[in-house]
Amino acid sequence: MKKAVVIGASGQIGRPTVEALAGDGWEVTAASRGGGRDRAWGDGVRTVRLDRSDHAALASVVGDGCDLLVDMIAYDTAHARQLTSLAGRVGSAVVISTVSVYDDGKGRNFDTLHEPDGFPAYPVPVPESRPTVAPGEGSYSARKVALEHELLAADGKLPVTVLRPGAVHGPYSPLPRELYFVKRNLDGRRRRVLSYQGESRFHPSSARNIAELVRLAAARPGTRVLNACDGEAPTVAEIGAAVDAVMGAETETALLDGPPDGSVGRTPWSVPLPVVFDMSAAERELGYRPVVSYAESLPETVDWLTDTLCGRDWRECFPLLAQAYPDLFDYAAEDARLAA
Ligand SMILES: NC(=O)c1ccc[n+]([C@@H]2O[C@H](COP(=O)([O-])OP(=O)(O)OC[C@H]3O[C@@H](n4cnc5c(N)ncnc54)[C@H](OP(=O)(O)O)[C@@H]3O)[C@@H](O)[C@H]2O)c1
Repeated sequence: MKKAVVIGASGQIGRPTVEALAGDGWEVTAASRGGGRDRAWGDGVRTVRLDRSDHAALASVVGDGCDLLVDMIAYDTAHARQLTSLAGRVGSAVVISTVSVYDDGKGRNFDTLHEPDGFPAYPVPVPESRPTVAPGEGSYSARKVALEHELLAADGKLPVTVLRPGAVHGPYSPLPRELYFVKRNLDGRRRRVLSYQGESRFHPSSARNIAELVRLAAARPGTRVLNACDGEAPTVAEIGAAVDAVMGAETETALLDGPPDGSVGRTPWSVPLPVVFDMSAAERELGYRPVVSYAESLPETVDWLTDTLCGRDWRECFPLLAQAYPDLFDYAAEDARLAA
């Protein structure tokens, strides 16, 4: 059996990735600091506790060698060097980057989102050949670009597939954007407000589809960069309707023509211009076909969010989401606007 080591295995992308690789006949070692295990994993999956900042510990998990190293949580040049230093003992690697590396060619990107006229005007869809921000240490996006450059420079020593997901969704998400609609429905709110006429599109990436891309890349080692998104990029209004369908909720939506009014109408997908990525390279190079549509992926996410929330304060359950979007549930402001 071919051996795979997955770093960050117990997270939202790691869980379905381990499941997909094991299902494809890989002997998987699932590594994370807590050594967590998913119920869907069979007995053949070995879990290990690993802090990837301890290079000797990572080298020892790789041991005499493995055919595949998958890294969910690589963020910078140091992480890239850690992986490429294992070339010779590792057959190939798949590393998760992000679509936030893209620049629109006019200096606008995810780092300038909130500046006046800073929202990137990307082509629809964005292919991998489009420019990125400069590599550096100054931001998440710049560090991810530096990571990508360092990995791609190892071509010849270590084949690496770099995957760039969009808005990742699925159970165990530390940043579950879907909570915006799920919590409103759980709270019995039947009216809501969407900015930009509900037409915003910010391309989602089901963790199951990213896992499928890892599985395909693992079977065809190579050095490449690929977008890693769902087969469709629904509008925010369509996302809300899909959540309602899963939860059996009937809602009405008030539409704002333009941007959010303070917190009102601001969802995690509410963008003034479309942010949609081209998946044709993944289709061509790996034969990628999404294993789930956005709507098909939702029931397990909605169930997990409902169970996790279970009457608790959403900020305690999802601190990262609360940090990124502190006023996601400002019902008083929403009611005032609806009344007006
Ligand atoms: N969320 C998005 O919308 C989005 C969009 C684009 C790209 N991405 C990319 O997706 C990746 C994150 O994946 P995810 O959402 O699956 O993350 P996640 O759900 O937060 O899971 C992180 C995993 O890594 C483990 N981990 C954390 N620190 C570790 C360490 N020092 N050593 C070993 N294991 C460690 C965690 O388990 P323990 O805590 O037990 O260690 C867990 O298994 C990142 O590369 C990010 O840039 C995310």
